[in-house]
Amino acid sequence: MANESNQAGEDRGAHTTERLLRDAGISTGMRVLDVGCGRGDVSLMAARLVGETGLVIGLDHDERATSTATERAKDLGIKNVQFLPGDLHAPPIVGAPYDAVIGRRVLMYQPNRIAALRPLVDALRPGGLVAFQEVDATMVPASPKPHPLHEQVTRWLWQTVEREGATTTMGFELPIALEAAGLNVEGQRAEAILQTKHHRHITAWIVRAMMPRILERGVASEAEIDIETLDARLAEELHQTNSTFIGDMLFSAWARKPLRSEA
Ligand SMILES: C[S@@+](CC[C@H](N)C(=O)[O-])C[C@H]1O[C@@H](n2cnc3c(N)ncnc32)[C@H](O)[C@@H]1O
Repeated sequence: MANESNQAGEDRGAHTTERLLRDAGISTGMRVLDVGCGRGDVSLMAARLVGETGLVIGLDHDERATSTATERAKDLGIKNVQFLPGDLHAPPIVGAPYDAVIGRRVLMYQPNRIAALRPLVDALRPGGLVAFQEVDATMVPASPKPHPLHEQVTRWLWQTVEREGATTTMGFELPIALEAAGLNVEGQRAEAILQTKHHRHITAWIVRAMMPRILERGVASEAEIDIETLDARLAEELHQTNSTFIGDMLFSAWARKPLRSEA
C-alpha cells in the first residue's frame, strides 16, 4: 500500500511537458516567456533547459501565484527565472523579444484564444518558438470497463473548470489556434495518462487542491467527495476492475513564428 501511494504521488504529466519543451527546441541560452505560470512548475523546468546563460520570465495575473513561484525559485537557488504579475494579453518584454513563449493549461481559460495568442506572437523574435500543452475532455473518461468513481471524479473536475468559463476542447483546438495566430505548426501530439492498480495518478491530490473551487461552483458537496477516503476508494476501484482507466489527455503543439510577416 505504501508503495502504491508513492506511485499515486507522482505527477506523470510532468514528463510529457518536459518532452514537449525539448522537442519544441527550448535549449541553452534562450530567453523564454511562460504565460499563466501559476506556481512556476513549467518555468522551473524551462529554467533548467536554458541554463545559466538563458532567462525565463514567468507571468501570471494571480499575484499570490507569482509570489509563491518566486519563493520556490529562491529556495531552490535558481537564479535564471523571474516571476512577474500581469496579464498575458499585454506581455512584458524584458530586454528584447523572446526566443520562445510557452504555457500549460492556460489557453483553455482565455475566452478568445487567437486574441490571446496574437500579443504573445508579437512579443517573439522572428523565427521564435511557441509551445503549449492543454488538456481536453473530449475523449475522457475512457476505459473498457466501468469505473464509476473515477468517472465521477473526472466529471467533477471538468464541470468545475467549465463553470469557471474554461473550454473543454482546447486540446483539439490547439494546433488550429496556433495556425490562426500566424504561426507555422512544427509538431503536435496527444498523450493519455494510463492508470492501473500499480500505476495510479495524483487524482485525489488534484481533487484536494481544487476542493474550494469544486464547492464554490456547486459541483459536489464535501460529503459526496469525502476527501479523506477518496484516494483509498480510487485505489480500491482499480484493484477491483484490474483494468486501465484514462482520466487525463494532454495535448501538445509547438510552432514557429515566420521569419517574415506574411501579412
Ligand atoms: C491551470 S493553472 C496552470 C499553471 C501552470 N501553467 C502549470 O501548468 O502548472 C492556469 C494559470 O493561468 C493563469 N492565468 C489564466 N488566465 C491568465 C491571463 N489572462 N493572464 C495571466 N495569467 C493567467 C491562472 O492565474 C493560473 O495560475
